[in-house]
Amino acid sequence: MHLTPTSRARQSEIPQSELCEGRSEALDVGAVGTGRHNSFAIGVDRGRGPALVLTTEHASIGRREQVAVDLPLKKALLTGITGQDGAYLAEFLLAKGYEVHGIKRRSSSFNTDRIDHLYEDPHTQGRRLVLHYGDLTDAANLIRVIQTVRPDEIYNLGAQSHVAVSFETAEYTANADALGALRLLEAIRIIGLQSRTRFYQASTSEMFGKVQEAPQSETTPFYPRSPYGVAKLYAHWITVNYREAYGLFACSGILFNHESPIRGATFVSRKITRGLARIHAGLEQCLYLGNLDALRDWGHARDYVRAQWLMLQQPEPQDFVIATGEQHSVREFVERAGEHLGMNIVWSGSGIDEIGIDTRSQKVVVRVDPRYFRPTEVDTLLGDASKAHRVLGWKPELTFAQLVAEMVNEDMDHAERDAIIRRHGYRVPTRHE
Ligand code: NAP
Ligand code: GDD
Repeated sequence: MHLTPTSRARQSEIPQSELCEGRSEALDVGAVGTGRHNSFAIGVDRGRGPALVLTTEHASIGRREQVAVDLPLKKALLTGITGQDGAYLAEFLLAKGYEVHGIKRRSSSFNTDRIDHLYEDPHTQGRRLVLHYGDLTDAANLIRVIQTVRPDEIYNLGAQSHVAVSFETAEYTANADALGALRLLEAIRIIGLQSRTRFYQASTSEMFGKVQEAPQSETTPFYPRSPYGVAKLYAHWITVNYREAYGLFACSGILFNHESPIRGATFVSRKITRGLARIHAGLEQCLYLGNLDALRDWGHARDYVRAQWLMLQQPEPQDFVIATGEQHSVREFVERAGEHLGMNIVWSGSGIDEIGIDTRSQKVVVRVDPRYFRPTEVDTLLGDASKAHRVLGWKPELTFAQLVAEMVNEDMDHAERDAIIRRHGYRVPTRHE
């Protein structure tokens, strides 16, 4: 192989600690050897993206030389790049030196808010974030995009991901969430990328539904309780089947709920932090919720996308539960978010008449609206991620308290900005579902 030294070859750019001496921690792959007059080490510099680093030790003259050359970029294709996880994963992969391709849906309004900070003008030479129009319900489109990109890794994050909405749009949810995964797996086979492309399926703790044991691990039987859960279960098993039938490197990550300041505003965590922040800023009066007793294992999306990537870097494809192992109720989420805003929320009444009162302002800030109850509910979820701890070396870094604080702080910023706009006489849209 002919290696062309690039600007990265300048030794000053490569800290000694990151160089590939023998089996240095900085290397993803490494080889060492000894010649008559020198020894050498070669590897991929993990910390600095895809560069091949060659170190030569001339023992006889006591000199060391290093050369780094850029390697072809690893390519990842993300469905759902405009969603919460898509945005965090795209950022993560770009920082690792990947060329990131994303499939976004055509929409009548801009739908790239979450990735606008990563966006590169299509006219930029050598840009590393490329968006393609597409949809998980359109097999021809998926085949064409995959054929064009020829990705090393595909992350199937796209989905109609709202459980309550799946009861309203059951057929569409099955089409996008169940058959979407099948279309991608088939595309890999049709194009003949089985030995090149690794596949990640965004499976979910919603598949455990009416839980058969606690906590839930990779071996817990599934019992989905929504059209979304059922669709995701199909996607999960078809991923396992294609791995076993065709030898694809295909993994399912069974992820428990994970949230962030860019979480969709109709999921309960964000609905709470956004709603209470807006009440605190004087923009709204009351937050309407459904089942306050539901228990979830809530983690931070930033931690969870790292686990997605780790799954595709293993020697063998396997499925993993990703969770914190800690459980909180919706009610507790409300209390914690309120506390962070200086509220003291106490509960009174029961059932659909229950209310949450902020004792500091003496106002009712939370009420129950049965509209948010689900025909069949998942009452409790708690994950056992010990396999991921053991095999992937993955552990969550952010705590529940940090998650709530980060979400409240960001929503408070948005609310204060809206309050200023309103004070100056401009209209501020109120969005609810
Ligand atoms: P999200 O914020 O709702 O994002 C979903 C993404 O999928 C969006 O980019 C959306 O595009 C796209 N999408 C929806 N329908 C599509 C279709 N027919 N074709 C192509 N793209 C489509 O979800 P998330 O929280 O990032 O979750 C990512 C994945 O993990 C989802 O598959 C979800 O089901 C799964 N999951 C999530 C959690 C969690 O707690 N967050 C837990 C377990 C599993 P638009 O922006 O145009 O709507
Ligand atoms: N959305 C919502 N809105 N949920 C509410 C509300 C409300 O006003 N009030 C109570 N809840 C309860 C729901 O009934 C549910 O038990 C719990 O809060 C969490 O609801 P969501 O935040 O909508 O999440 P989810 O658990 O149904 O689904 C999420 O997590 C799954 C993983 O377990 C989604 O991200 C799914 O895509 C994901 O697969």
